[in-house]
Amino acid sequence: MTDPTPHLIRTSRDGDVLILTIDNPPVNAFSPGVPEGLKAGLDAAATDDTVRAVVIIGGGRTFIAGADIRTFNLPREQAPDLRGTIAKLDAFPKPTVAALHGTALGGGFELALGCTYRVATPDAKVGLPEVKLGLLPGAGGTQRLPRVVGVKKALDLILSGTPVGAAPARDLGLIDEIVEGDLLTGAVAFAWRVADVRPLPRISERPAQPDPEAIEAARQSIRKTHRGQLSPQFIVDLVDLATRTPFNEGHAEEGVKFVQAKDSPQSRGMRHMFFAEREAAKIPGLDKTTPTTDIRRVGVIGAGTMGGGIAMNFLNAGIPVTIVETAQENLDRGLNTIRKTYEASAAKGRLKPEDVQKRLDLLTPTLSMNDLGDADLIIEAVFEDMAVKKDIFTRLDAVAKPGAILATNTSTLDVGEIAAVTSRPEQVIGLHFFSPANIMKLLEIVRADRTSDSVLATSLKLSRTIGKVGVVVGVCNGFVGNRMLYAYREQASKAVLEGATPQAVDAAMNALGLPMGPYAMSDMAGLDIGYMARRAAAERAGQPMPDDWVDRVVQLGRKGQKTGAGVYDYPDGSRTPVPSPAVDDLIQAYRAEKGVQPREATQDDLIARLTATLANEGARILEEGIALRASDIDTIYTYGYGFPAYRGGPMHYASEQGLTTVVQTLERHGLEVAPLLRRLAQEGKTFAQYDAERAKSQT
Ligand code: 3HC
Repeated sequence: MTDPTPHLIRTSRDGDVLILTIDNPPVNAFSPGVPEGLKAGLDAAATDDTVRAVVIIGGGRTFIAGADIRTFNLPREQAPDLRGTIAKLDAFPKPTVAALHGTALGGGFELALGCTYRVATPDAKVGLPEVKLGLLPGAGGTQRLPRVVGVKKALDLILSGTPVGAAPARDLGLIDEIVEGDLLTGAVAFAWRVADVRPLPRISERPAQPDPEAIEAARQSIRKTHRGQLSPQFIVDLVDLATRTPFNEGHAEEGVKFVQAKDSPQSRGMRHMFFAEREAAKIPGLDKTTPTTDIRRVGVIGAGTMGGGIAMNFLNAGIPVTIVETAQENLDRGLNTIRKTYEASAAKGRLKPEDVQKRLDLLTPTLSMNDLGDADLIIEAVFEDMAVKKDIFTRLDAVAKPGAILATNTSTLDVGEIAAVTSRPEQVIGLHFFSPANIMKLLEIVRADRTSDSVLATSLKLSRTIGKVGVVVGVCNGFVGNRMLYAYREQASKAVLEGATPQAVDAAMNALGLPMGPYAMSDMAGLDIGYMARRAAAERAGQPMPDDWVDRVVQLGRKGQKTGAGVYDYPDGSRTPVPSPAVDDLIQAYRAEKGVQPREATQDDLIARLTATLANEGARILEEGIALRASDIDTIYTYGYGFPAYRGGPMHYASEQGLTTVVQTLERHGLEVAPLLRRLAQEGKTFAQYDAERAKSQT
């Protein structure tokens, strides 16, 4: 009978060394076909007396970058047998050498640890990033790593999930030799040198020294760093176990815990986010042939908090920036903030001291927009006023060189309307950064009705250059993220009107895993910002001025942390919110005015209500074509608004709850259900199925 899985392993010989090359592009994930090929190669090598050692190497750009994440939903018997392959390596009677280049991650690095030796190129990286997928190293990593680097370092590496370079890995004993020059040649030469060394140095046979202090410290620290997450707790337990039991027992327990973590909603959520982030970069109609422009110089208009933060992204990427302000005083203040931010990074050791000046040298301050003539991209970052923006874009149109991209950082306004004042609306796009713009990873890329494909493709490429996750959205009030935030805040306000306290609402969202609830967050951002945005939107729509209890809090002069009082009090300049008796009174008076009898809400109900609201607004956004996919909405809300990745974003979270349940929650609170959400619920589908069906219909 022929084997149904294609063998993704090439076999070759160099004298008495057998070479097994993994050929599974793009990242040599451990997919079906890889274990079959490796095992077949090892079986052949074991019985062939002319083979003295085996080298395992990755073809293409990397060694194995991990288990194939897409196979985690397969039934157990169909999943590629990574643990079995490593067990075979561990018991193999001849030396095996893993030759590492690119990123040897997760199961890939675990396979390397199961080999007798490891060599690597100088730029290779190794790591166990499973925790970022809500998992734990499930193929021996929790048991082998502490046997090599000790408990403390093993916990650092596994709990952070951050890969280390070849040189530090060698210093830690994880790599035996760094190969300068051709990796395969070096690996074979290494194999020859060790071919006759016996006994074979197997990591599984080494002891792991107990370190109760490091275990306790890790337990304490994950409560903060990985609040509410399951897999970090398993990791600490398993690393501890490695010091107390023989390898096989710890290894068996690791297998059990891995399956538990893999089957948890948390890991499903994080795996969803892994693919969602990568999917966001794929835009129907755009491909590798879509022309893009090289962005060699950037102009930024406005040196306020936003403009300064935006400029820093480009300076960090080595791209020169010309920054424009209207008054010298504002320009000086803006530059000073940028300098101070860099100096603070250098003081914390995050930036080399010499890089502070290097980055500042890339910045040209000016008071004249005429100095933007050589910029390939100009980003306007002034306050949200359509008339001001139109004026700036009219002037920019006259100054900017042909082909330059003109971008607005508006968070609410119609980018198409701004574009229309220029003679080149196809060159105009929205680049919506999130505050603090030098830190937040999200970039909403707003495609207006006439934005060209090339400008869109350039913006997406640029988002990667500056280390952002770019998500393409269409034009509507607030685009995707802020529009959902408005709906969520409105619902939070109603929940308070009906009887919840602001602190109960915040506590509920905190329990869900958001770092801050809506009120702590708006107090921090400045309550007046939302207030003014709501009023401006009402004015544009010709509606009466909004007047809910939060508006009244602002009218008392309580604008949030910056005024020492908002929804909460911040006594003596503290940043810790304290419930405010004055706001309590205001809320009670407001309820009485509206004739509302307050009812208590449970935490579960608050979570259900607010998350259902997000998914409902998300469904409307999808129906209107403002977002391309539900997974894009999840990416936006996770990267821009603190929704925990382990919940998978609001759309995924709703699907996990069951869309019928979500519809019932909305109805219970008298909310109008988005037709798409209702339809999916009736059909028993999830948002992921909706995305998959749409993707299929587009190909
Ligand atoms: N499984 C399946 N697909 C994977 C994958 C994996 N482990 N790693 C990457 N891919 C896919 C990506 O989805 C993407 O697919 P697409 O082209 O269809 O969108 C493609 O490979 C290229 O990936 P990137 O766009 O991310 O390429 P980069 O060059 O930017 O990054 C990388 C490469 C550093 C390897 C990055 O992809 C990465 O971090 N991958 C995940 C690594 C990881 O988490 N490994 C652990 C897996 S869990 C595990 O091993 C469990 C074990 O302990 C039992």
